[in-house]
Formats: sequence, C-alpha cells, structure tokens
Amino acid sequence: MKITKTIILTLAVAALAACQGPVKPENNDGHQLWFYSMDQDGMNLSSEKTTMAIAENEIQQYWKGSQAVSFNVLESQDETLGNEGYRLSFDKNAISVEANSEFGVLYGVYDLLRRQETGKVLKSGSVTEVPAYQYRVLNHWDNPNLTVERGYAGQSLWKWESLPGTILPVYEEYARANASLGINSTVLNNVNADPVNISTEYLYKVKALADIFRPYGLKVFLSINFASPKHLGNLKTSDPLDKDVIKWWNEKVAEIYSIIPDFGGFLVKANSEGQSGPQDYGRTHADGANMLAKALKPFGGIVMWRAFVYDAQAPDRAMQASLEFVPFDGKFDDNVIIQIKNGPIDFQPREPFSPLFGQLENTTVMAEMQITQEYLGHSNHLVYLHPMWKECLDSDTFQKGEGSTVRDITTGKLHNRPINAIAGVTNIGDSTNWCGHHFAQANWYAYGRMAWDPELSSEEIADEWIKQTFTDDKDFVNPIKALMMESRENTVRYEMPLGLHHTFAGAGHYGPGPWEGSIRPDWSPMYYHKAGPDGVGFDRTMKGSGNTGQYHEPLASIYDDPETCPEELILWFHHLPWDYQMKSGKTLWDTLCYTFQDGIDAAADYIDTWASVREFVDEERWNEVNIKLVRQAKDALWWRDATMLYFQTFSTLPIPEDCSEPQHTFEELRSFRLRISNYETPDPEALPVYDLDRL
Ligand code: GCU
Repeated sequence: MKITKTIILTLAVAALAACQGPVKPENNDGHQLWFYSMDQDGMNLSSEKTTMAIAENEIQQYWKGSQAVSFNVLESQDETLGNEGYRLSFDKNAISVEANSEFGVLYGVYDLLRRQETGKVLKSGSVTEVPAYQYRVLNHWDNPNLTVERGYAGQSLWKWESLPGTILPVYEEYARANASLGINSTVLNNVNADPVNISTEYLYKVKALADIFRPYGLKVFLSINFASPKHLGNLKTSDPLDKDVIKWWNEKVAEIYSIIPDFGGFLVKANSEGQSGPQDYGRTHADGANMLAKALKPFGGIVMWRAFVYDAQAPDRAMQASLEFVPFDGKFDDNVIIQIKNGPIDFQPREPFSPLFGQLENTTVMAEMQITQEYLGHSNHLVYLHPMWKECLDSDTFQKGEGSTVRDITTGKLHNRPINAIAGVTNIGDSTNWCGHHFAQANWYAYGRMAWDPELSSEEIADEWIKQTFTDDKDFVNPIKALMMESRENTVRYEMPLGLHHTFAGAGHYGPGPWEGSIRPDWSPMYYHKAGPDGVGFDRTMKGSGNTGQYHEPLASIYDDPETCPEELILWFHHLPWDYQMKSGKTLWDTLCYTFQDGIDAAADYIDTWASVREFVDEERWNEVNIKLVRQAKDALWWRDATMLYFQTFSTLPIPEDCSEPQHTFEELRSFRLRISNYETPDPEALPVYDLDRL
C-alpha cells in the first residue's frame, strides 16, 4: 500500500515538473564563469596554496563520481607527456591522473571535472593530452591608472595602488579560471607600455600577483616601453647598441629575476603607432629584439616582439609587416618570437591571414588574436569568436606546399622551431561577470581551449562552455549553440560584408563612420573602402598595391582575380564597380544590401531565440543578455543604414524594396556623434534610436 502511494506521489511530481518545465535557476551574476554548473554553492578554493593541494581540493569539493581519483607525478618521466601534459586512466572503481609535473596533474584534474560536467567521463581506457603551444598567453592591455585599452568590462583587475599589500580574492579566481583552461602565461600590462611597470616599486606589486598565480601554473610577463632606459634610467639614449643601454637592460632583467625568479619575459610594441623603438636610433627590429633577448636568455626568459607596424605614408598598410620583417628572417635570437596579428590590418571581423605567417622560414612566429571585441560590438554584442581564430589557424599559407597551415607554422611543427606560443588580447576587467557580456566569457574560455588544442572544433568548445555555464538541457544547448555558431559570420554580414573593412567611426571603434576623415590617412575609413562613383574596395592585386603577391601560389593568383577570389574577401582585394556581377548573378550593390539584410534579420532572430529559452536561465542573466541583444539588432540596422546610405551618394542606386527600410537619413546618421574613449563601451541608450517592430 505504502509503496503504491510513493509511486503515485512520484508520478504526480513528475507530471507537475513536465507541465512547468525546468525549475528556474537561482539568480546568478555570472561571476562563477564556467564553474557555474559545478560550484553552485560558491567557490571553495584550497586554503593551502600548493599545486597539489589545489588539485586535491578541486577533487574533494567537486568530484561527484563514485570512482576514487588518484594523482601521480611520475618519478621516471614519460616523454610523451612533456612538461605539462597528462594522462587520465579510467576504470570502474578508480581514475588516475598522471603527469610529469604537478601542473600536468592540475590540468588533468580540470579536464576530469570538465568531463564530469559535460557528460564525458569514460568508463574505461585512457586519454592523453599534451598542449599544442608551449606558451599559452593572455595579453592584458591594462594601464597603471586602471583603465584598460579596448577593455569593455570595467576597469583593470589589477589594483596597482593597493598592491602588494592587498591581495584581492579575484586574483586567485583569475588564476584558477586560467588553469582550468590550460592558460599558463599572462602579460599584465598594455603594449602601449608605461615605463613605470618595470620600476622597482611596481616589480614588487607584480611579484605579489606572480606569487598568487604560481601554484596555478601561470607565469607573469610584462610589456616594456623600449625607451625605458631614458625614462626610467635617466640615460641619454635607448639605442639598443649603446653599451650603457645594454648594461641598463641587463641589470633591470637581473633585478626582475631576483624578485620574480620564474618571470616569463617581455612583450614589445616598438616603432608602432608612436611607440619608441630601435628605428628611432637607426637600428633594426632584430637589433632591438636581440638586445633584450640576450639579457633574458641566462634566466630562461623570452621576447615576444610584435609585428604590428605600419607607417602613415605607406600605400598599403596590409603589406607593411612583411616589408619590414622579411629582410630580417633568420636574424632573430632563438628566444625571440615575432608576434603577428591574425590578419594584416587590425582585428577586423574578417581578414585574410597575415601574409607574414607564410614568409618567415627561419624565425619563430606566433599568432595574436583579439578576445576583446574592439571591432565586434564591444561588450554589447554577442559574438562567439572561436570560428574567426580557427579560420586563421586553419588557413593554408602554402609556404612549403599544400598543408602549411598557420597552425603548423605557429606550433613550430612545420619548421621545427625550438619554442612556440599563441597570444590573445583579453576581454577581462573588474566587472562582476568578468567580461561585460555573459556570452563574452565564452571567448575567454574558447581562447584557452584553443591554445591547448587548436584542432578542437568551435562547436565542441561552445558545447562545453554552454553546459558548464548554463545547463546541459538540450533544449537550451542546441538553440544557443546554433546561435553562437552563426554569430561571428553574422557580425561580418551586418558590419562589413564581402571583405569591406575598417569602416568604423574613430570614437571607440564601435559604430559605423565610413565617411570620417582623420589626421592620418590610414586612420580614415576612406583609405580602406575607397568608395567612389566608380565602385568600392581596395585594389590589392598585382595591378594595385601588389599585396596579393605576398601570398604563395596558388593563393596569390586566386586572390588576384575577382573571378576566383572568395567573395567573402572580394572587396578586401579588389576595387569593383557597383554593378559588378557576383556569382549569384546579382550586382555587387544588391549583394551588399542583401548581405546586410541577412545580418539584420539574424540579429533580430537572436532575440526570439533567447526568449524561447527563458525558462532555463535565471532572471538576472536572462535580462542582462536580453537588453544587449536588442541593442545588437538595432546596431545591425545602424551599420546597414550608415554604410549603404553613404555608398548610395556614389552609386545612386536604390536599396532593394524587399530590404528593411532605412530608419534614418544619411545626414542624420552623419551628424550623430558618439563620444567614447578607447576604454569604454557605449551605453545602449546613447546610440541612434531604432524601432525593431519596423523590420
Ligand atoms: C589597435 C588598437 C590600439 C592598440 C593597437 C595595438 O590599433 O586600436 O588600441 O594599441 O591595436 O595592437 O597595438
């Protein structure tokens, strides 16, 4: 009798649950990142701060399986695992985590917990994981005054004024989040570096952070100002061949290592956008980089020397890095890595890969990706960036024939380089949810996973992230994954279709400003889109700037001919008339209009998709994301109106009738002024008014 009752009761509860849908989760401010599914009761971090204690604590607190988990730092090294790899072995009653180092064990523990949260714990067998890149680096563009260049998530995480005395809990949470992904290196300060960051006073602040990060396997690096010997050391010059300058750097580096013995090295932006560099003294990139490399070498440090160089008078900025760096191929010391942005211009929503990746054969090169959404709607737009980065890493440069991908070049596989690295410019700030937009956390996550394993698919990573950050209910996971997967391509559609680029308003690189002039020609959108009565696009063919010739065959010929150039890059490489016939048979003008329209429609659909999963998300996160999705859809319209109404002044062609009607005139949009600095994301309310009901 009793039993029957219980059964009935259970059925009744089940029936009720089926009617009501999932129980709505408690409010959540997003601070728990991808640990949300795991630490609902808050973060319980280890009180003992050693790597093994941290690993043990994570298992004690969060492992829910019945199998006992054991750790093993191997006494006789297993070469297949390298320094940071690990092996997880599963059977019915026990799981073991083996590695050559404690850090390997910690990474194995986070892998195991990720498997638990995403339903991937094996019943038997083993998995071996070894990171593809040796240095998996975050670049913070944080300033001593707490601003973050191109940061859209509050202020800097590093509270320099209260360091080293005050250690905020968030420092350790940051280290833990990175360790859970395998990120092992962090450059704490802006590439536009203030010399003060390597002053003795600051080094003790840096040390305090390094001490917190160390057990999590996270090494600290600093960006340096090349003119530091002058500014900080009161020398007359910063000439890299001057013996006093060399001595100054040698002593500075020795001082750094006496304070932070496992310091990683320097990141350098030199002779770029007004930053000082060796060329100020008639010296070369190699002279500058090697001087620093020699100072760091005895301590095991490295130099990441950026190739982001361009000069105001150059006819084609896309060509410049190659022009400046190729002559020095083979001239850099072996602890120098040339850090190259994924594309040749500047983190646009779509760029071809930088030709420089395929041009240096005897130099170590690394890719720099941008995680912060400088050109992709800041923290107002939902854009999952992994497909963009993977597009670059998977690109074939044909450097040594077919199969010479950017990935194999940067992992060192193609040329057997001694060291290798990858960098991502972070989107992290001190806002409660770390990244400004709840979905921007996915980009931090995806970057870390990619740096460990660049072969993982965008979909696999999105799937993992969603399940850990929200819920593993397939009715949430499937639509949201689909939305994330299309979001980057869609941003390309509504911001800069068909290879258009850099049509941004100067203020903050947020909205459109294709008509804007600038003090420097190459800081003006007109330099890039070249719209006029005869058509639009940048002629980078061999008859134009010659940039296509910087790619290896068959790419050079493919890009050079508008008939074979991929249409998604056609205006990157070609200047074409407005009535140019595209493969679909439509004109270029109409194709631009319809591509924008696809972007507008898809962005508006995000709002419906988000409404359809409301029951799975707590009010707090649901509302915050919803407000931003509405703005994103309005911004898509703004982009279309501004770009096409401006282009219309040249083409004099109509926007097709089956496209949304512009809601503002060209004059209205041109007179709109957004006033934001490089440190802000605009308030959605301060942007042009759009009515989504009129779509
Ligand atoms: C872009 C960005 C700058 C940054 C620079 C760089 O130009 O807008 O803020 O300093 O890239 O990567 O050095």
